[in-house]
Formats: sequence, C-alpha cells, structure tokens
Amino acid sequence: MKKIGILFGQEDTFPWAFIDRVNEKIKEQGIKNMMAEAVLIDTVEQAKSDEYAVIIDRISQDVPFYRAYLKNAAITGTAVINNPFWWSADEKFFNNALAEKIGVPVPKTFILPTSHRPQNTDENSFRNMKFPFDWEKMFDTIGFPAYMKPHDGGGWKSVYKVENPEDLWAKHGETEHLVMMLQEEIQFTEYFRCYVLGTDNVHIMQYEPRNPHHLRYVIDGPPVDKKLLNLVEKYCIKLNKALGYDFNTVEFAVRDGVPYAIDFCNPAPDADIHSVGQDNFDWIVENAANMAIEKAKQYKKGKMNLTWGTFVTNQISAPKTAAKKTPAKKQTTKTTKRASAKKK
Ligand SMILES: Nc1ncnc2c1ncn2[C@@H]1O[C@H](COP(=O)(O)OP(=O)(O)O)[C@@H](O)[C@H]1O
Ligand SMILES: [Mg+2]
Repeated sequence: MKKIGILFGQEDTFPWAFIDRVNEKIKEQGIKNMMAEAVLIDTVEQAKSDEYAVIIDRISQDVPFYRAYLKNAAITGTAVINNPFWWSADEKFFNNALAEKIGVPVPKTFILPTSHRPQNTDENSFRNMKFPFDWEKMFDTIGFPAYMKPHDGGGWKSVYKVENPEDLWAKHGETEHLVMMLQEEIQFTEYFRCYVLGTDNVHIMQYEPRNPHHLRYVIDGPPVDKKLLNLVEKYCIKLNKALGYDFNTVEFAVRDGVPYAIDFCNPAPDADIHSVGQDNFDWIVENAANMAIEKAKQYKKGKMNLTWGTFVTNQISAPKTAAKKTPAKKQTTKTTKRASAKKK
C-alpha cells in the first residue's frame, strides 16, 4: 500500500480537503493500493519509518520533534514535501543571495547582528566584529523608509517599517535574539503572491498587503499585463528550481514593471480557505492532490525520494565532471614514481 500522509498543526481546512480530494481521485482514476490519511505517529525508531510513500509537511517549522521524524522518514524513502534537510539549512537572507546569483531581482538587503547577545556569550565572543558597525554604509545603500524583518521567519511576525536611523535602533532593540534583515522598501504598483507546486506549477494571485487580513487576496483586481504575469511565472520557476521546494509561495512587489521577489521561503504557506478564498483554495487542494499522487506513483521503495534544488545538485555534479577530465588516481601514481626516481 502506498500511503500519502499529511502532517499538520492548527490549520483545519486544507488538510482535510486535501485528504478527501486525494482519496476521491484515487477512486476516480481506479488507482490500486494507494490512500491518503492524516499522519499518525506512535513510535519513531531510527531508520525504521517507511510507512508513508509521501508526506506533506505543514508544521515541522514549529515542532522540532516532527522535523527529526521527517528526516528519519526521508532516509527510509518517504518523499517528504518539502525536503526537511534543505528546509533546515535555508533562510531568507541566503534565499536573497541565491536569487541575486540566478538573476531574479530582489531588494537590496543587509543582515544585522542581534540586539541581544546569544545565551552563553560575552563580549569576547564578538571580537571578529568591527565596532562601530558600519551603519552609514547600510543606510546609504538601503535608504529610508526601509523594512526590517527576521532573516528566518514568517506570518508577518516582527516585520517593521523603519523611517530613520533612530526609529531603526529603537525597533531593533525590541527584536532581542532575532537576526534581522535591513531591506530596501519596494514601493509597488502591483503585488502578487504565487503558489508554486512541484517547482514549476504556478498559480498567481493578486494580493494587496495594505488591506486588512481577510481582504488581501484581491478577487476583482484590475487586469494585469500578460507580459508581467509571464515574467512573474518565470521567476517563480527559476527560484523554486534552484531551491528545490515542491510546495511554496513566492511574493513579488512590482516597481516600474520589475517584479522584485520579497518573500519566497514559505515551505508551509497559508492555504486556509478563510484567508485565501474559495478559488485559490480549490486550486491548491486540486493541484497538491495531483502532485502527491504523482509522487506516490514515482515512489521507489528503498530509495531516497526527495527533491533537491539545483543549488545543491550543481555542487554535487561539478566535481564528477572535473574528475573525468583528469583521472586523479593515475596522476598520483605517476607523480609518486617520478618523485621517488628523482630521490634515487
Ligand atoms: N522590501 C519590502 N518592500 C515593500 N514591502 C515589503 C518589503 N518587505 C516586506 N514588505 C511588506 O511586509 C509584508 C511582510 O513581509 P514578508 O517579507 O512577506 O514577511 P513574512 O514572511 O512574515 O510574510 C509583505 O507582504 C509586504 O507587504
Ligand atoms: Mg510574506
């Protein structure tokens, strides 16, 4: 039996709709030996956790026990969505650097040392930092107003708009142990939030972050230039191929026709019917169900079934190509022989 599981927290609409839709589709398509259910864990023993072919993870960012469970499931072959290893390594500041390297526009960004010292550190722990920190250089590059937000976070928590250096320092003082990014403000004409599944299946939603929460997903927004939508789609795919996320949202703020990626490290994005609205909810349920069934069909027992982004896979494939050109083993032997001949 190939089981598709979903692991979730307090959300209450997406998980059940997802399970129902997957099971309906399995029935409709006459697929044998496949089913979907809420993940149920009784014990977790190392290297013995292959009950599920696929698990959609919606909560391990908040529950370290689940993250460890998922890594263990992954090594026994479960296709965990999203890849728990990459998700553990990733954060927004790195994402921005990667976006810049692959040619996706992002706002200019610095990271700031934390306001409070981490536990068990004293001033000696910071002897590699130059004091005073070069605030002027950052202010000249970023300008004001600017955004200050955690380098690893979500759900609009601790996101500040700062008007000037004094305002920044006052707000920075409140952030305690968070590593904050200082980011150029993009004054936008359009804003999009896009679901991206399987790295290349994109659903673009018009979004108005300046509206109250329940009115942010714009239903009857003005028509948007097709060229701009194509560019947004292209950037979504580029980012998710590089990162290797199978389930993500990417946000863009558009300034002078250029979409700047603002927030694209959302491996458990909001999919609640009450905030995203019926149409977007239907899209994510339907397409996530298709993706999970596809992953379950591709699942091979005893193999690793994770998605890795090109940022990682390119690092692995590069040395192999180099090794082909110069067979390292032979060369070493020759050198050794010559060296010993000389000695004689
Ligand atoms: N550089 C920026 N320029 C303009 N608006 C921004 C910028 N950064 C964040 N925002 C606004 O703040 C909101 C929350 O920031 P975001 O980076 O999406 O954090 P979170 O991951 O908490 O959602 C965004 O939806 C956007 O409206
Ligand atoms: Mg966001």
